Amino acid sequence: MSTSLDWAQEAWEKTAHKVARTSKRIGDRFPHASVKGEYQLEPASWWTAGFWPGLLWLLYRNTQDGQLKLLAESCEVQLDQVIADYYRLDHDIGFMWTLTSVARYKLLGAEDSKRRGLLAANLLAARFNVQGNYIRAWNPWREGEDNAGWAIIDCMMNLPLLHWASTTTGDPRYKHIAVRHADMALEHFIRPDGSVNHIVVFDPHTGEKLEVKGGQGFAPDSGWSRGTAWAIYGMALSHLHTGDERYLHAAKRAAHYFMANLPEDSVPHWDFRLPEGITAYRDTSAGACAACGLLLIADQVSGQESSLYREAGERILYSLYTNYGAWDSETEEGLILHGTSHYPEGKNIDVPLIYGDYYFVEGLSRLLGHGELFW
Ligand code: GLY
Repeated sequence: MSTSLDWAQEAWEKTAHKVARTSKRIGDRFPHASVKGEYQLEPASWWTAGFWPGLLWLLYRNTQDGQLKLLAESCEVQLDQVIADYYRLDHDIGFMWTLTSVARYKLLGAEDSKRRGLLAANLLAARFNVQGNYIRAWNPWREGEDNAGWAIIDCMMNLPLLHWASTTTGDPRYKHIAVRHADMALEHFIRPDGSVNHIVVFDPHTGEKLEVKGGQGFAPDSGWSRGTAWAIYGMALSHLHTGDERYLHAAKRAAHYFMANLPEDSVPHWDFRLPEGITAYRDTSAGACAACGLLLIADQVSGQESSLYREAGERILYSLYTNYGAWDSETEEGLILHGTSHYPEGKNIDVPLIYGDYYFVEGLSRLLGHGELFW
């Protein structure tokens, strides 16, 4: 790997160049997975709706390209209808409004974005189950389904919205909920070896833990790599917002499990604990998200320890750039190839994913010192 950050600057410029082109077709819509070279668009209510505008904000912050700003702002305004429709909103409120309203508020101090972000934080806080100390993950996916007791590791990435709401309003109640959920995740999600559960089911009336489900991982006791990445970054962010060392230790534990299971080129398979006969597709999105988490851990420790995490994060981003990028392809809209969204349901396997692209660009922006975190 190159010892300077020249490669990251080069990757940044290629990213800006490519997004200037792809944004002409994607516009102010909501891409999720790229199939046959073209990003499939989802409704604004889909959980990934924040990643494209978030990526546009990251680029705008550095390039001041007003066209990207307009697109990101238009995406944010469309999310108003999602709040009005309400029923499809789940815990991913954090992903959706942190990368739209909170990002715009942090960059431009816009009052309307502050109002939207706070409204979203209120809806997220309202999903908290006080008996089980968890934020409810989803709403029923189909008629008759009852998932009121389900919590998922991904939600660690939604907690920063609550911390931001407390900081912004001076009212600690949002933060109290974030802390109680993170403490629950320490107890029920992060395993002793640093691997994580995807779904934990509680009795929503008593709060009793009932079972663990495999979810997007191969099995309840396997090692879903993106779940591990959510834990690394989410726990590191919980430490950033609270100073509680237990979260930093959990982030490190998950990070060491992740790093120890990486293949030669530092880009993870979709699950680290697969039986023979199951294809070990890569999940570049897990690599990009984990890299951001590793860089944040590096910022919160010192000396050689900091170098270890920073180099691990940089190694992943460098490999994504050199081995998995689709920089010059005119027939592929995604930036980073080979993401795996949901193997057990056979959805979007081995394709570019908008959150993989987002975290890759965030990682570059962090390496290049462009500015504060949106999270
Ligand atoms: N949060 C959903 C996923 O990681 O696919």
